[in-house]
Amino acid sequence: MRIGIIGAGQLGQMLGTAAQDLGFECRFIDPSDSPPAGSTGTVIRKAFDDPDALAQLAADCDVVTYEFENVPVEALHAIADVVPVYPPPSALAIAQDRLHEKRLFDELDIPLPGYRVIDSRQDMQAAAADLGLPMVIKTRRFGYDGKGQVVIRDLQQIDAVWDQLGKQPLVAEAWVAFDYEVSIIGVRNAQGAVAIWPLTQNKHVDGILHSSRSPVENHGLFERASAYMNRMLSHLDYVGVLALELFVCNDALLANEFAPRVHNSGHWTIEGADTSQFTNHLLAISGQSPTSTACSGHAGMLNLVGEIPAAARQFEDERISLHDYDKTPRPGRKLGHITVLAASAAERDDLLQTVAEIVTGSTPAGGHSA
Ligand SMILES: Nc1ncnc2c1ncn2[C@@H]1O[C@H](COP(=O)(O)OP(=O)(O)O)[C@@H](O)[C@H]1O
Ligand SMILES: [Mg+2]
Repeated sequence: MRIGIIGAGQLGQMLGTAAQDLGFECRFIDPSDSPPAGSTGTVIRKAFDDPDALAQLAADCDVVTYEFENVPVEALHAIADVVPVYPPPSALAIAQDRLHEKRLFDELDIPLPGYRVIDSRQDMQAAAADLGLPMVIKTRRFGYDGKGQVVIRDLQQIDAVWDQLGKQPLVAEAWVAFDYEVSIIGVRNAQGAVAIWPLTQNKHVDGILHSSRSPVENHGLFERASAYMNRMLSHLDYVGVLALELFVCNDALLANEFAPRVHNSGHWTIEGADTSQFTNHLLAISGQSPTSTACSGHAGMLNLVGEIPAAARQFEDERISLHDYDKTPRPGRKLGHITVLAASAAERDDLLQTVAEIVTGSTPAGGHSA
C-alpha cells in the first residue's frame, strides 16, 4: 500500500511513522527544505497544488490524503478521478470557510456560539448590537493558531478592526466565557465503520494549543460530543480522522470548528490509546476497519512552541515521551511535544504540571480536569 500525503510537516511525520509500522510506504508533496516527514518517506519538492506533482502522486499511490487544511480544493478535485482522495474534498471545502462550517453545524443541529456574516463596517456595528461585546472577528479563510482573529471589547475598536481585516471575508462570533475547551476525534471508513477516542480537554495560550488531557471523565459530555461527531461523519460521508473543537460553558456544549485531518489535540493517542489517530487514519483511508480507540491510562500532552529547551531532553521517566519534529526553531512555531501517561488523572495532572514547569516555566493550569 502506498499512501500519498500532501504536506510533510509534523502531522505528515507522525502519519509516516505510523505507516512504516503498518508496512505502508509514503510519498509526500511539500515545497519546504528538509520537511519533518522527509525521514519517513520520499518528498516531491513542489508546491502543494503543483499539477505535475499531484499527477505523479495520483499515479504512484493507492490513496491520497492531506495533513494541512490550506490545500486548494480544486487541486484535490483534479486528481480525485484517478485516485481516492480522503478525507472527502467536499469536507475540506466546508472546513476552509468558517461561515460554511457554522452553517453545517446549524444544519446538523449542533449548538454553536451566535455568529453574523460581516461584509461591511455597518455589519460589524449591527453584529455588536446583536451579539453583544466582547465579540470575536475572524477571517473566514486561512486562520490557524489564533491568527486572523481580533476580540472587540469596545465599539471604538470597530473602525480599526475593519481597517485591519476588512479586505477579507469575515464572521463575527459571540465571545464564549467557557469553563474549558474540549475536542472529540473520530474516524470512519468508506463502509461506515466508526471509532471515537475519549474526550480531550484543551488549553490554548495566545490562540495556540498549549496542552491537552484525556480522558475527560464526564460521560454525559462524551455522549453529546460523540453524537455530534457521528452526525458529522455520516453527513459528510467521511473517510479518515475528523476533529471537532468545542467549548464547555455551564451546561452547554458549543461547536467552535472542525478539522478534516489528524489533530494536535490527538497526539496523546500515540502513547495513550490502543490505536493512535495516525494509525486509524491510515487504516480507514486504506479501506480497513479502524481498531480500538480505548485509552490505556490518563494522558497529557504539552506542546513545545518556539524552542525545545535542553531540559525537555533530560527526562528519564518511562511515563514521559518527547517528540521532536526536527524543525528549525522560530518564535510561535510548534517544534515538538511531550506526552505523559499516568495511572490516574491526579498523577497525570501532577506530572504534566511538573513537566511544564521544568520545560517552559509555565503551568498547564486553567481549570482542573473535568
Ligand atoms: N468565540 C470565542 N469565545 C471564546 N474564545 C474563543 C472564541 N473563538 C476562539 N476562541 C479562542 O481562540 C482559540 C482559537 O480559535 P479557533 O476559532 O479555534 O481558531 P484556530 O483556527 O486558530 O484554531 C480557541 O481555541 C479559543 O481558545
Ligand atoms: Mg481551533
